[in-house]
Amino acid sequence: SDNKTWSGRFSEPVSELVKRYTASVTFDCRMAEVDIQGSLAHAAMLNKVGVLSAEDLAAIQRGMAEILDDIRNGSFEWSIDLEDVHMNIERRLTEKVGDAGKRLHTGRSRNDQVATDIRLYLRGAIDVILGLVRELQASLLQLAEKHAETVMPGFTHLQVAQPITFGHHMLAYVEMLGRDAERLADARKRVNRLPLGAAALAGTTYPIDRHLTAELLGFDGVCENSLDAVSDRDFAIEFTAASALAMTHLSRLSEELVLWMSPRFGFIDIADRFCTGSSIMPQKKNPDVPELVRGKTGRVNGALISLLTLMKSQPLAYNKDNQEDKEPLFDTVDTLTDTLRIYADMMRGVTVKPDAMARAVRQGFATATDLADYLVKKGLPFRDAHEIVARAVRYAEEEKKDLAELQLVELATFSPLIEADVLPVLTPQGSLASRDHVGGTAPRQVKLQIARWKEKLGI
Ligand code: ARG
Repeated sequence: SDNKTWSGRFSEPVSELVKRYTASVTFDCRMAEVDIQGSLAHAAMLNKVGVLSAEDLAAIQRGMAEILDDIRNGSFEWSIDLEDVHMNIERRLTEKVGDAGKRLHTGRSRNDQVATDIRLYLRGAIDVILGLVRELQASLLQLAEKHAETVMPGFTHLQVAQPITFGHHMLAYVEMLGRDAERLADARKRVNRLPLGAAALAGTTYPIDRHLTAELLGFDGVCENSLDAVSDRDFAIEFTAASALAMTHLSRLSEELVLWMSPRFGFIDIADRFCTGSSIMPQKKNPDVPELVRGKTGRVNGALISLLTLMKSQPLAYNKDNQEDKEPLFDTVDTLTDTLRIYADMMRGVTVKPDAMARAVRQGFATATDLADYLVKKGLPFRDAHEIVARAVRYAEEEKKDLAELQLVELATFSPLIEADVLPVLTPQGSLASRDHVGGTAPRQVKLQIARWKEKLGI
């Protein structure tokens, strides 16, 4: 016979396959602790409004404390016969405390219960993730500080463009991560609303106090429409979208680390503990971690599409489709959490090779724009200056020299405006120092930016 909580209405049990197909306990058991937290708040509220006796509340609290222990020490037995985390815990509670356990679900549905659980779970996950984003930012800032003056070529189209500092480059990622944190913190505001009290979809006949439940669970307020409360998962989609962006940022950094570690660049080295070897090529040291981050960005993008597709066209209110929200959401939380954690550590283990970067900045005429700007400051219209410098570059290329390596007499053949004061302008250091405004790559500005971030992060 079937021992389902709702089997009274049915004349035959579900088939084994249907049981497995509809059960969610194998993955939603991850919400056990928040499920218990939600139940305890619900029970306390029921007691306060006179629906549940003090003895029943005490019995529920005692039973739940034991269940929590069992779950934490791994002795709780999950059963797919009981479908999901909610019914597993409720059944166990009733086994432990009898009728009080059966009274817990008064004025509640699994629909508002699960929506509450996901929000509690996600709120906790966001707080952990926000801490990890800061940690990664701190480790990037540390690198930036060490290399506030380390010259490297900045690229556009992956072609040498203009000199920048490695510190400036790291700070670009600190900014991106800062926006990721803002997005997550903003999504958290909409996560942190209480669905409980919506019951199945229309509310309940008991004189519940939803504000009390919200307060007990640390929610900022209640979902104000019962249909919306049980049916929408937009908060999970928002979180996943913010996560996909964070992963996208990390995938860009990953791509750069992979390129920079290639001997063709040779800009950096990554500590051995983040790399692996080859089973056939003895010389290999591969940047597996950044490669995997690139790859795992695909999973998170996939989760976002899964959740959007799951919600699309769903009629109000709750539909079982929503049970499919959990695995993509949990996978996103796990992937982003692990990625941030490993990245914060890995960036601390990045060794910069300033010589290789300095060599690269001398290939590709990185200071050509500086020469054009120099001519403009001497009165030439920018377009004419551009043309003159382009000719100088062509000449230098034929001579196999960088602009800074040309003699003054050679340079002067391109314009009578070019005089001895051009020489410092054409060095990478001169180029850097002249970009001295908010957001510019001048070491002075890089240091100011680092100071601003340190203050923001309380470092
Ligand atoms: N396991 C379900 C879920 O994840 C819980 C809610 C089920 N509600 C229902 N009426 N079948 O969404």
